[in-house]
Amino acid sequence: MKDELDINGLTLIAGGHTAFQLLWAGHELGVFALLSKRPGLTRAQIAQEIAIQSQPARILMTGLAALRLVIKEGDTYRNSSIVGQLLDTDSPQNMGDILGWQALIVYPGEMDFVESLRKNANVGLGRFPGTENNLYQRLVHDPKLERAFHAAMSSLSRSANSMLANSVDFASIRHLVDAGGGDATNALALARAHPHLQLTVFDAPTVCQLAVANIANVGLTERVKTHSGDFFIDAFPKDIDAILFAHMLTIWSPDKDRALLKRAYDALPSGGQLIIFNMMGDDDDSGPISTALGSPYFLSIATGEGMLYSWAEYESFLRHAGFSQTRRFQLPHDHGVLIGTK
Ligand SMILES: C[S@@+](CC[C@H](N)C(=O)[O-])C[C@H]1O[C@@H](n2cnc3c(N)ncnc32)[C@H](O)[C@@H]1O
Repeated sequence: MKDELDINGLTLIAGGHTAFQLLWAGHELGVFALLSKRPGLTRAQIAQEIAIQSQPARILMTGLAALRLVIKEGDTYRNSSIVGQLLDTDSPQNMGDILGWQALIVYPGEMDFVESLRKNANVGLGRFPGTENNLYQRLVHDPKLERAFHAAMSSLSRSANSMLANSVDFASIRHLVDAGGGDATNALALARAHPHLQLTVFDAPTVCQLAVANIANVGLTERVKTHSGDFFIDAFPKDIDAILFAHMLTIWSPDKDRALLKRAYDALPSGGQLIIFNMMGDDDDSGPISTALGSPYFLSIATGEGMLYSWAEYESFLRHAGFSQTRRFQLPHDHGVLIGTK
């Protein structure tokens, strides 16, 4: 049983849009970066350093202190420890790019959440230039948005792929296809962690070009290849024993995911493994908060049909595709690996 919501919790949710804007302003105007380097500044000193006037600085710093993003001690401020860890620009875990994606894409697009629920469609996509029916294709019309999007995805992948590399028994795998492997960030991390592994990134032709350049840059062309095409239509690479879907199946409807997993099943030999790596929702659809807050983006903006599915739902997709045996591996940050064996 989860605790009942109290008035403070409700106040924070009701003003969640403002709480986010305070967080974003603290990052975008450089308050957190400043206090990482020089904790103990007064409000007047902060205002001067970030070049805003005294009254707006009062509103900003009062908000940041009330949200406990910064700690006010007497007349001076320091970052809370979690902000120091996750928003210090020098930190490897820096989540500034993820805030950028939230501010520029998720925030405006979710203005249309209610209409998206009513219409069961990504009405929020209308706020972005273009006529294509998903966000990924529309991004080409706005280079600033496209940069913000890819910076956030690459930040998410970097923080997640070390968990993946250490959570699966890759010793039993010889040749793995990273389906929708993007610019090969994940494939290269797996190749470095597991020197016996051969990998193939299966993605759209233009994306494979990015992957080819990245693979060549680190001298791994012998072990990491690309295979361009559309995995809903084109054949998977031959002579493989595992297929990975990392942060992929959230994009589409259950019907499309089941069809895609069936294609993957057909491409694998007997004993072959299908690896799903994603944030995983609870089986009883009550959380966790990270996936519950992530799903509206897929409905309102990205495609109008996906969500962060639960463990049990992915297992049902795998069984539907023909995989007889599935195993769950719980990872930090609400991530998980689910392996189905043919
Ligand atoms: C959300 S990204 C995931 C990237 C990577 N797997 C990760 O974990 O960071 C989705 C990727 O799927 C690719 N993709 C989408 N539809 C595809 C299709 N029909 N065939 C092949 N690749 C596709 C996109 O080009 C993109 O690189």
